[in-house]
Amino acid sequence: MAIERTFSIIKPDAVAKNVIGDIYSRFEKNGLRVVAAKMLHLTQAQAEGFYAEHSERGFFKDLVAFMVSGPVIMQVLEGENAVLKHREIMGATNPKEAAAGTIRADFASSIDENAVHGSDALDTAQREIAYFFSNDELCARTR
Ligand code: PPS
Repeated sequence: MAIERTFSIIKPDAVAKNVIGDIYSRFEKNGLRVVAAKMLHLTQAQAEGFYAEHSERGFFKDLVAFMVSGPVIMQVLEGENAVLKHREIMGATNPKEAAAGTIRADFASSIDENAVHGSDALDTAQREIAYFFSNDELCARTR
């Protein structure tokens, strides 16, 4: 199976709930390795740029306001089929539709505040990783 890298954000609602460790533990238990990480409070410009593809959608303003409402943790995850595996661990975008035991089923309160973001495809992952991380911030597995 292919070793991939995907991009992940623990959103302001989940950071506020103090469940960063629980979410990291789910990544690790499912064979995903953190190869880069940073905590930051997004600026308006960073959030608007990151979600630019949704700029015409009705929820865009609220989404950006939510993403700048508090600090986030972002990470690059590496592992076999990382993009799909991460999406499975997160659960559906709308927590009401998320399978039991997924991050969104357990921690998200609504589709507007849904705890985590994950890249939806390999090319998206590469673009999203490059949006927030430089190449020298990505750590190769050493052992
Ligand atoms: S959709 O609805 O299937 O097209 O959603 P998607 O393209 O996967 O991602 C949309 C992102 O916007 C966030 N968001 C919402 N989506 C749909 N409806 C509402 N009301 C809404 N509010 C916010 C959603 O969580 C996706 O963000 P990320 O960060 O990718 O999870």
